[in-house]
Amino acid sequence: MVEFASRGRRARAVDNVNLAVGPGEIVALVGESGCGKTTLARTLLGLERPTSGQVSYDGTPLNYTGRRLRAFRRQVQLVLQDPMGSLNPRQTVYEAVAEGPRIHGLADEEAVVASALSRAGLRPPERFFLRYPHELSGGQRQRVVIAGALALSPKVLIADEPVASLDASVRGEILSLLLRLRDELGLAALVVTHDLGLAWNIADRVAVMYLGRIVESGPTEQVLTNPQHPYTQALLSVLPESPERIVLTGEPPDPTRIPTGCRFHPRCQLVAAGKATDACTTTTLPVLPPTTSSQVACHLAPVTTGPPAPSAI
Ligand SMILES: Nc1ncnc2c1ncn2[C@@H]1O[C@H](COP(=O)(O)OP(=O)(O)O)[C@@H](O)[C@H]1O
Ligand SMILES: [Mg+2]
Repeated sequence: MVEFASRGRRARAVDNVNLAVGPGEIVALVGESGCGKTTLARTLLGLERPTSGQVSYDGTPLNYTGRRLRAFRRQVQLVLQDPMGSLNPRQTVYEAVAEGPRIHGLADEEAVVASALSRAGLRPPERFFLRYPHELSGGQRQRVVIAGALALSPKVLIADEPVASLDASVRGEILSLLLRLRDELGLAALVVTHDLGLAWNIADRVAVMYLGRIVESGPTEQVLTNPQHPYTQALLSVLPESPERIVLTGEPPDPTRIPTGCRFHPRCQLVAAGKATDACTTTTLPVLPPTTSSQVACHLAPVTTGPPAPSAI
């Protein structure tokens, strides 16, 4: 659980989430803006401390003291989208990519930088060393950001909306780069996105988040071709190939006022259509366990839930 103080109230941005990413696995975390994706991603990176619950890496709970946290940060790297200013405009490509290796005191800096750029598809790497971000295309800048993460030879990438502001064609290139890195380096990735189409193209598994909670998760194919949660169904209905669009009513979700019963009920299209049961408005749903099989938290969908795991964030 991750809570923030918000104008005198407590905002529960992440509210009992179990999420596991296996070695070499690509998991997409999807949900509309404000549902807590970035907060969850930052918590997994150790940048935010959970109010309760814990983050584990390789079976070991995260230790927030300096040296241990630094070791963890080498293994799990954050990739932000560049147009949000993750590259410093006054820094050359070389300097940007060398920053991590310097902080971690890696030997052979130039070779490390060259290899990271090359793996990120900027070849020959030396040609990019002295360039500045404004001299590069959007796709190239995103590759520099990815190279900066790769320079530390991580095991996991956490990419927060990595392609949200790129052109469609470049978006595909960056996604195939992530897939290639998984194949070549065995990298696992958590890709945070509000775009289900992107999840289709890249993820082995999808977790759908609504108001701080995972409401449905499972293998991508299963979740996206046969969504069980009305919220997932509504998200999917926005894709161009969908036959009809489901428009959600009600207020946008507010983490300082989590509704009773099912947290989605005030906006649920099934409730609006008169299909609700009493449980929808009165009974809290169990927290989904961190298993990889399909599961859904909805009173109107088949029950696949177990007891909450003690380490839920
Ligand atoms: N540092 C913070 N302080 C207070 N509230 C925050 C902070 N970060 C996020 N929030 C709130 O937590 C909720 C989830 O935000 P966020 O994790 O950024 O969602 P998303 O990435 O899905 O758009 C939002 O209501 C947001 O306003
Ligand atoms: Mg976000």
